[in-house]
Amino acid sequence: MTITPSAAAILELACRMPKAELHVHIEGTLEPELAFALARRNGLILPYADEAALKAAYAFDSLQSFLDLYYACADVLRSEADFRDLMLAYLERAAADQVVHSEIFFDPQTHTARGIPFLTVLDGLTEGLRQGKARWGISGRLILCFLRHLSEEEAFATLAEAEPYLDRIDGFGLDSSEKGNPPSKFARLFARCHELGKPVVAHAGEEGPPAYISEALDLLGSARIDHGVRALEDDAVVARLVREGIALTVCPLSNIRLCVFKTMADHTLGKLLARGVKVTLNSDDPAYFGGYLNDNIRAVQAAFRFDAATWYRLAHNSFTASFATDAEKAGWIARLDAHFAAVGEVVPGPI
Ligand code: HPA
Ligand code: ZN
Repeated sequence: MTITPSAAAILELACRMPKAELHVHIEGTLEPELAFALARRNGLILPYADEAALKAAYAFDSLQSFLDLYYACADVLRSEADFRDLMLAYLERAAADQVVHSEIFFDPQTHTARGIPFLTVLDGLTEGLRQGKARWGISGRLILCFLRHLSEEEAFATLAEAEPYLDRIDGFGLDSSEKGNPPSKFARLFARCHELGKPVVAHAGEEGPPAYISEALDLLGSARIDHGVRALEDDAVVARLVREGIALTVCPLSNIRLCVFKTMADHTLGKLLARGVKVTLNSDDPAYFGGYLNDNIRAVQAAFRFDAATWYRLAHNSFTASFATDAEKAGWIARLDAHFAAVGEVVPGPI
């Protein structure tokens, strides 16, 4: 007799499964409580009366409307201890969601433009990663993102600042305002990142057209596509993602909050999965978009009612699409298999 697990049991399985997060901006994990605490620590006054007033400002109608607030709030981050505490707060929440590995974006230009030294940012974040690993066993890597609304020349200056510390930087990315800032603007920069021996990723196809996804692959050599949810508008792009096994780091709650899709039921992630695209789930800017990875899982499951095999696939994708070593991936996948086996779910076999 086959027992079909209940919807509640499948949700529990998905929330408790070990998984990786591959798309989270550390500045986007700044909760209002911490923003006010850091403002107090640094003698600053936020232009909001209290946490509730700040939260009330989280009503976005586009990526840009969010970015304006996101960059303004980042102003409370001043010292190495601030960046360390920000990282620790995120890792604690991620670990509680059974995230065992996270590849974390940071935006140095947001800070260096305000006079915060690059090394203050990097030292704080790496100290947070070190303490987080010791406390919760969570593995964390840093991906340095360039802001695409700035020039390629400015990005090259940031890369030059980063070059002495490449042992602490695991990859490079491209974020910020997508429309009007195509990947092609940064082709020379990313060629240099490849010369430095680092993997690169790029946000593409969030608000921008599917052609930006092709550009990110062809001109930047992007190993994954961050978001990529507009791929479905171009069959050739979808076919290529499937053929080349390119992962999308999809952020469902982000896409709803930034009005990329009206409701979760309108989200393309189910169709992308059904077409064979290597989808992963992520939280993007969890403090601003209504939650961390398991909140995204709950929202997705409420809309799509995936079966256990689909949740297994999503977690498996998160590991295989990561920049971890083969040995690390094998260890996490063994834990994933054990998690499914423990509740009597048969693992779908080699994927
Ligand atoms: N898109 C682009 N840039 C960003 C995002 C995003 O979702 N979050 C933080 N920076
Ligand atoms: Zn993002």
